[in-house]
Formats: sequence, C-alpha cells, structure tokens
Amino acid sequence: MASSPDMDEKRPQFGNRFLKDPSQVFQHNAWDNVQWSEEQEAAAKMKVLENSSQPLPPEKQEEYESKASNFWDDFYTIHENRFFKDRQWLFTEFPELSPSGRSHPDSAENQRMDFRQETGNVDKVYPGSSASYRLLEVGCGVGNTVFPILQTNNDPGLFLYCCDFSSTAVELVKTSPQYDSSRCFAFVHDLSDEKSSYPIPEESLDVIILIFVLSAILPNKMQDAISRLSKLLKPGGCILLRDYGRYDMAQLRFKKGRCLSENFYVRGDGTRVYFFTQDELGDMFTKAGLEKVQNIVDRRLQVNRGKQLTMYRVWIQCKYRKPCN
Ligand SMILES: C[S@@+](CC[C@H](N)C(=O)[O-])C[C@H]1O[C@@H](n2cnc3c(N)ncnc32)[C@H](O)[C@@H]1O
Repeated sequence: MASSPDMDEKRPQFGNRFLKDPSQVFQHNAWDNVQWSEEQEAAAKMKVLENSSQPLPPEKQEEYESKASNFWDDFYTIHENRFFKDRQWLFTEFPELSPSGRSHPDSAENQRMDFRQETGNVDKVYPGSSASYRLLEVGCGVGNTVFPILQTNNDPGLFLYCCDFSSTAVELVKTSPQYDSSRCFAFVHDLSDEKSSYPIPEESLDVIILIFVLSAILPNKMQDAISRLSKLLKPGGCILLRDYGRYDMAQLRFKKGRCLSENFYVRGDGTRVYFFTQDELGDMFTKAGLEKVQNIVDRRLQVNRGKQLTMYRVWIQCKYRKPCN
C-alpha cells in the first residue's frame, strides 16, 4: 500500500514553514499550509472527473466489500510491521494522547463514577474497567499509533483499546514485545458491521482515535459507524481523526478503472480509500451528536529535491466532542 509512507512523517505542528517565494521551493523538503491557485484546483477537479469516468462494475464493487478484510490481511502478511515510522507528531497534533493532555483527570474520574452509578453498572467488569482514562483506536493496523502512546503516556490510569478487522494485524499487535495486556486490549472488530458490538459499555471512553481508517470503509456505512462510536464516548469525550482530503496527490494519481464511486477508489492490492471534504466529515460528526473542536485542512507541499518533484498533500484533521449536557 502506498498509503503508509504517505501517512507518516516526522514534523512539528501544522503551519511552521511557509513558501513565500515560489523560486525557493526546492530549498526545503516540505512547506506548510500551501495555498492552491484557482487553476490548480480546477486542474485537480478535471483529473478526478477523468479518473472516475468509468466506475468499476457492481459485481467487482461487491467483491471488494465482501473480501475487504482479506485484502488487508494480505497486505499485513506481506508487509508485517515494516511501515512502522516515527509518530511523534501524534502528540503535538493530539495532546489528548499525552499524559499532560488529560485536561481534567478529576472530572474524568468523576464522570466514570457518574456513569457507573447512573447506569447501575457498578459491578460490571470488562477489560480496562478500573482505568480512569480510556482510549480506543479503531483501525489500529500493526500498532503504529498504539505503541507510541503506550511508550509515551505513563499515566497509571490510562487504558488503551485497539481494534482492526484484519486478524493478521491484530495478531501482530498482540505478539509484539511492546504489547502490555495490563494496559492495552487488542481485538478484531469490523467498524462497518452494525451487528458487531464493542467490548466496552456505552459512555465509557475518553478518546476515540481514527487515523486513516474511516476512508477505508464504504461511504454509505460511514455515518452509522461514527454514530455507533459516538455512543461509546463519555460526555466530554472526543473523537480525533486524521484522514485523506479531497484532491490529495494520492487521489490525483489514480488511473481510470480504479474508481468505485465518487471520490472512492481501490488500490492495486484491493484496499480502498475515500477522499473527504471538511464539510462531509463535519456533517457526519454533527449528525452523531458531537460538537466541533477542530476541523482543519492540512495542505502540505512535499518536495523531492533530488528528483525536483513537488507533491501536494491534503489531509484533514478533526476533533469532535460529546457535549457534557
Ligand atoms: C491505512 S491503514 C491505517 C492503519 C493505522 N491506523 C495507522 O495509522 O497506521 C487502515 C487500517 O484500517 C483497517 N480497516 C479498514 N477497514 C476496516 C473496518 N471496516 N473495520 C476495522 N478496521 C478496518 C485496515 O485493516 C488497516 O489496518
């Protein structure tokens, strides 16, 4: 999958290096917050019209849906965890994941107690039930986010759940020497399957992490998936998302014959990817009853100085919170 190196990069927070003089473009490896000209936007639109002009036939689409987890299993069988990269940006973009990012430890604990009293779940025991700060990563792959959190966040109250529908990926997480079952619980789960429940009660999570995973599921299953996740959040808890944005280089590079539906494509290895607008994501989170904390587009220009190539990346980053009532 070409996407993993796309998703990882070592860099400080958004917006640190701006390209003011286009003649300087090859002076650095990357530029932040790059403004697109109208011509560039129009050319991108044309490219997408072109590469989506012949969507794949319904029987092929059905096959990619019914065998989706097999394609990811194959991906992880081939690559295992070789795509592991430095993910320190996680903690600058999402301070909620670092020990100091837990804004009100007391209130989180109080909310947990409230939840247990209100629901009568005082005796309900589940993995991590005694923790005071619970995180869930959905579509965790081989733990590129999970392990940096476990290493960096030494909060004794922290418990991290992680799931993926690829059993090969989950097995790689569980057999990693970094996996600590006293602080983490990995399980197989299909985000888009409405019949499959999470092993955690409603209103029990402080943070849910979605990193380049929502884009991998069928667009018409996204809303329900987000609404189900929203139910798992405590009041005040939030969903953190980072994913592909509309007209990202990866979308423009698709050739004809890879498009499944508008802005949804299948890669050569059978894995799928959608390219979002900020509004589409905002609408989904709002419909799921969440309030916006952040919804930003990260337009970054990556530069291959050796080959004198420019690559325009578009990522969207969102934080949406469940109201405290
Ligand atoms: C692009 S990878 C990102 C992996 C990981 N979040 C990371 O940042 O390294 C997408 C992941 O989503 C998982 N995935 C795709 N569809 C899923 C679904 N319906 N339910 C759960 N996981 C899914 C894939 O198996 C894969 O591990």
